[in-house]
Amino acid sequence: MQRVTLKDKTFVPYITSDKISASVKQLAQKINTDLVNDMPLFLVVLNGSFMFAADLLKEVTIPCEISFIKLASYHGTSSTGTVTEMIGLTEEIKGRTVVVVEDIVDTGVTLEKLVALLTKKEVKQIKVASFLLKPEAYKKDIAVDYVGMEIPNDFVVGYGLDYDGLGRNMKEIFVLESK
Ligand code: XMP
Ligand code: MG
Repeated sequence: MQRVTLKDKTFVPYITSDKISASVKQLAQKINTDLVNDMPLFLVVLNGSFMFAADLLKEVTIPCEISFIKLASYHGTSSTGTVTEMIGLTEEIKGRTVVVVEDIVDTGVTLEKLVALLTKKEVKQIKVASFLLKPEAYKKDIAVDYVGMEIPNDFVVGYGLDYDGLGRNMKEIFVLESK
């Protein structure tokens, strides 16, 4: 793995694709065991989760459905700040087991908003699967049930994650080079 430069920043190799695959497989096995009777709906949060979701769901062998959502932020003119809403959810999710599929949980602000939106729709239970988790940054109470890897509070790219739109297509994960 070579270092890569994306725009003005340089990133160094961090997690190999072999390590990524191994942890995705483990995570899928846990889901296969835990949710075998739940007919879960996997809700893949775009854009960042597309690569993790594809790898994960190839290893998920229990009956399930898969759907994709995006979170939209509207910056209104009022002081209420940012309102987030889900785009793309067409399934009836009331009473279902929903597994949120995220690339990374950092501070958890995004996850918290999403869980609030799903809770309003009266789902039966929400499970969260995130490939990466930054425990030093995460201060929310929502359980992240399935985690591929915990990482320090550093900025990473690759495997779906981007720096300013770039780097999502890399099959390994890179970390910002420390100066
Ligand atoms: P929060 O803080 O809401 O952040 O948990 C979640 C969203 O922020 C982005 N994010 C990152 N993107 N490398 C990235 O490429 C990172 O290290 C990183 N940390 C957070 C990401 O979009 C995630 O969904
Ligand atoms: Mg994301």
